[in-house]
Amino acid sequence: MTVRVLTGITTTGTPHLGNYVGAIRPAIAASREAGVESFFFLADYHALIKCDDPDRIERSRLEIAATWLAAGLDTERVTFYRQSDIPETTELNWLLTCVTAKGQMNRAHAYKASVDVNEAAGEEPDANITMGLYCYPILMAADILLFNAHRVPVGRDQVQHIEMARDVAQRFNHTFGKGRELFVLPQAEIEESVATLPGLDGRKMSKSYDNTVPLFGGGAKALKDAIARIVTDSKLPGEPKDPDSAHLVTIHDAFADAATREAFHADLRAGLGWGDAKQRVVQLIEAHVGPMRERYADLMAHPEHIEDILQAGAAKARAAATPFLAELRHAVGLRPMLAVPQAKVAKAQASKSELPVFKQYREADGQFYFKLTAADGVLLLQSQAFAEGREAGAWVKRFKTEGAAVLGDAPVSLAEGVTHDAVEAALAALQAHEAEQAAAKPAKA
Ligand code: TRP
Repeated sequence: MTVRVLTGITTTGTPHLGNYVGAIRPAIAASREAGVESFFFLADYHALIKCDDPDRIERSRLEIAATWLAAGLDTERVTFYRQSDIPETTELNWLLTCVTAKGQMNRAHAYKASVDVNEAAGEEPDANITMGLYCYPILMAADILLFNAHRVPVGRDQVQHIEMARDVAQRFNHTFGKGRELFVLPQAEIEESVATLPGLDGRKMSKSYDNTVPLFGGGAKALKDAIARIVTDSKLPGEPKDPDSAHLVTIHDAFADAATREAFHADLRAGLGWGDAKQRVVQLIEAHVGPMRERYADLMAHPEHIEDILQAGAAKARAAATPFLAELRHAVGLRPMLAVPQAKVAKAQASKSELPVFKQYREADGQFYFKLTAADGVLLLQSQAFAEGREAGAWVKRFKTEGAAVLGDAPVSLAEGVTHDAVEAALAALQAHEAEQAAAKPAKA
C-alpha cells in the first residue's frame, strides 16, 4: 500500500535557512522514498487568516512556490498545488464544520493564545479574533481529510490540529459512514531527527525573533553577512573551542557530511579562529544553496511557469478530490433528486414485499408451472402445467409487462375465494413497478 503524506505551507513570509533545513529539505527527501505519495500545498486560505495585505499574500505564494521548486521538488512525483485552487476544500470545510463541536474549537491553542493576549491587555476575550482564526483547525482538517492522508509532517505547534482532524474524521465516519471508513484517520509526524536550526542569536531561527539567515534573498552577499553576525564566544584564534556549545557548528553540521563535520570539530578543538570557521560555513552553505539560488532566480523571472506547474498540480489533486467529494455529499444526503431516489423507492418497496410475486417452479410430475401470490403470501392465480419451462416464463413476462390484459388469454385459473378485481389490482401494481424500474435504469447509467 502506498502511504499518503500531506503537508501545507502557510504563505505569509519568505523562506529562510531554518525553513529549508527544518521543513523543505526533509519533505523533499521523504517524497523521494518508495511507496510514498506526497501532497504538498500552499496553504493560502490559511494565510488570509493571518494577513490582510494582498500584495504580501501574492508575493509570498510566489516565493514559496519558487523555493520548493528550486530546492528540487519533483512535481511529476509529488502533487504540488495551491489550497485555493481546490474548491472541494472549502466545500468539505463546511461538511466538517457541521460535525465539529464548538467546545473543541474553544480549546484550540491558537485561539486560546489570542484570548489570553486579549485578557492580559484588559480587552474583551474575543477582541479582534476572526471566525477564520477560530475555525482554523477545521479548514486544516479539510485539507488533510480530502486526500485521505495517512501521515502529516508538521511542527509541534500543529500536533493538536492533527488530533482535531482525527476526531472530526472519526465523528464523520461514525455519523455518515454506515460502517464504512469514509476518512482515513491521519497521524501527525514530527521529524525528530531534524534538529531545528538555531538562528543568529542561538534561539530557534524564526522571523519573529528577527534572527534569520536568508535562504536566497540578497544573494551570496546576504548569506555571508548574516553568517558573519552569528554570535560566538570570545575565544581567540589558537584557543581550543568546544564545537558542542556553538550554534555556528549546528548550522554548519546541517549542511555537512560526516567527514566534513569531524574535520570541522577537530579543527575548532585545535584552535581554528571563529573568523576562519565562519568562512568555511559560508563556503559550505553557498556550495549547497548557490545552484538552487540560480534556479530560484530563473523561476522568479517566469512566474507564468510557476502558474502552469501549480495549475497542473491542481488538476492532479482535483482528479482525486472531485469524485471523493461527490461521495461525501452523497453520504450526508446531498443527492441528485431524480434517478437515485426513484430506484431506491422501488427497491425499498420490493424488499418490503409490498408487491405481489410471480413464482415459477417444477413439480414432481416434471411439468412446469407458475403462480401469482399477493404480498402477504395469499395465492391469487395458478397456471396449468407446461411441458417447457420457457413457456411458463413467457407468460410470466407478458403478465409483468401487459398486466391484467393477459388474463383472458392465459391458461390460468383464479384461486379459490379470490375476486377478479383483486387479481387485476395485483397485476396492475406489478406492471407499474416493472415500468418504473425500466425507466429508472437508463437514467442511472
Ligand atoms: N497550519 C499549518 C502551519 O501553519 C499549515 C497547514 C495548513 C497544514 N493546512 C495544513 C499543515 C494541513 C499540514 C496539513 O504550519
